[in-house]
Parts: sequence; C-alpha cells; structure tokens
Amino acid sequence: MGLERLKKVRASFAADLAAAGSDPDAVETLRVAYAGRKSGLLQDLTAALRELPNEAKRDYGQALNELKKFVEDGLKQAKERAAASAGSSSVGQIDVTLPGRALPRGAEHPVHLVRRRIEEIFLRMGYDVESGPEIEDDWHNFEALNIPPDHPARDDQDTFYVGSNLLRTHTSPVQARVMERTQPPIRIVVPGRVYRRDSDLRHSPMFHQLEGLVVDEGITVGNLKATLETFLHALFSDDVQVRLRPGYFPFTEPSAEVDISCIFCDMKGCGVCSGSGWIEILGSGMVDPRVFEAVGIDPERYTGFAFGLGLDRVAMLQYGIPDLRQLFAGDQRLTRQFE
Ligand code: PHE
Repeated sequence: MGLERLKKVRASFAADLAAAGSDPDAVETLRVAYAGRKSGLLQDLTAALRELPNEAKRDYGQALNELKKFVEDGLKQAKERAAASAGSSSVGQIDVTLPGRALPRGAEHPVHLVRRRIEEIFLRMGYDVESGPEIEDDWHNFEALNIPPDHPARDDQDTFYVGSNLLRTHTSPVQARVMERTQPPIRIVVPGRVYRRDSDLRHSPMFHQLEGLVVDEGITVGNLKATLETFLHALFSDDVQVRLRPGYFPFTEPSAEVDISCIFCDMKGCGVCSGSGWIEILGSGMVDPRVFEAVGIDPERYTGFAFGLGLDRVAMLQYGIPDLRQLFAGDQRLTRQFE
C-alpha cells in the first residue's frame, strides 16, 4: 500500500517538473510542495514510515530514499536550467558601454610597399601582373633562357636543388612560361621570391625580384630605354638620371645594366654609391632570339625587351635600411615604422 503511494508521488513529481520547465518561480513552488521542510510531501511520506508494520518498513524505507534522491536531483537540475536561461536572456549583466580590447595592428612590410608601388606604375602603363612557381624546373629557370647545362652563368647563381627541380634563382623563368602559353603582344611584370645560396650584408638566400617583359612587332632598344626612364622617374623622382651600361645576360642581346644617379649624395660620391655617384638598379636587354625559338615565338616577326630588378634593394634605398638581412629578420621594430 505504502509502496503504491510512493510510485504515484514519483510519477506526479516527474509530470510537475516537466511542466515547471526552466521557470524559476514554478521550480520553487515545486520544491516547497515536495521537499519543503514543514509541509512537503516527502515529509508526510517519511512520517508514514512509523505507522507501518515492522516487516514492511525495510522495503518502504528503501523506496522512500530512492524517491527522495529522485526529487532532489530533479530539483537541482531544474534550478540550474532556470539560472542558465536567466543569464542568457538578461542583457543587464553585460556592460555594452565598456571599451573593446585593443587588437594589435600589423604594418605592411617595406618590400611589399615597394612591390605594390611598382606594380601600380606598370599597371598604369598597361602591363599585366603575372606570377609563376617558386619551385622551378631546369628548363624554365635555365635551358629555355639560353643557359645550357655547361654554361658558366649557372655558377653565379648558386642554386638550391629540390630533387630534380630547383628553387628559382630569378624571376626570368616566368618570362618563358608566359611566352610558352601566350602569343604577342605581351606586356607583363612579375614580382616574386627568388633563392640563391648567398648570405651577407647585401645578400640573403631568399630575396625578391620583379621581372618585366614586353614582346610585340617592332619593339626596339629605344622602347626599352624610354620605358625604364619613365618607370625610374615615377619610382624615385623626375630628377634622377638614368644610365645604360653594356652588360651580359644569356637571355638578352644586347644587354644593359641600368644605373640611376645616386639619390643620397647628388652624385658627389658617398657610401651608398661607393663614391661613384651611380647606383646599379636593374638588369635588362633585348630578348635573345634563341629564347623566342625555345618558347615558340617567331623571332623573325617579333622583338622584345626584358628587365629584372631587386625589390629588396629598392626598399633599402628608399627607406635607408643598411643590412638586407634586417628585412627578413622578422623584427617588428622594423615593420612598425611603416604603419
Ligand atoms: N634575371 C636577371 C638576374 O637575375 C635579371 C634580368 C632580367 C636581366 C631580365 C635581363 C633581363 O640577374
């Protein structure tokens, strides 16, 4: 008889608990009704124990303890639910007027600033910006550029090999890649990372170049010179003088080294220009017909020019950075100056 009653109470508690949901007032009413110290139902059921015949007391007592635990656990969970939903719905607990946490601000790297400036200059002149892979094959990095396996030019470009491929030693392989897939007219610049086994004040095993290539009918040395002057005036200032000196690259003929008048000493001679008044800034030349043949462009019909410049060197000149390796040391005191 007593056990039957316990079962019923258990069932009604379960139903009442579900009905109360996470409403804190309903949960409290439920607590008083079932577990209240003075008039709670559990209290009555405990009192009823005493009235039972001795042989029934053990089973009843055990069932009553289980019921008490069931009610306690149910109430505890309901209270937690009520507290949780109170927290999430009450905006009053969040002070929306507090200032936010300051996020650290990054700064553009000087080499990136230079790259974007140069790209903009060439985009205005109608060039496209191209790119190519940093892990190259021998064909594009050397062979197609008229640098056969036994060519001494391979020695000045101490190459990092990656299996049967290599890390490109210059951006010129992208010339070959673009010419292989496009017929003229071609007008591109190609910024990118290049790699050589070299490290000192002026050399780092990874550095940046920007390649330029123009191919069309009737392109002459005059076009090369005018383009480079326009570019260098836009990059530095209209006052700089530009000088072409004879040079040698296997993939251009004729080739020219290009200097600008020293922007630090007005050509009087200083440490940056080693007293000469001139700063070497890029390599250039007319595309060698053998390169056209290698990439499937008709050298009888087309001519072109190409140039390559070191972006890091320009950044060092423009921002007065004395050691190339500082550019890649990852020290934020350097980049923060460019915020
Ligand atoms: N690739 C040459 C170098 O790395 C630069 C260059 C590019 C010269 C294009 C001529 C024409 O030194």
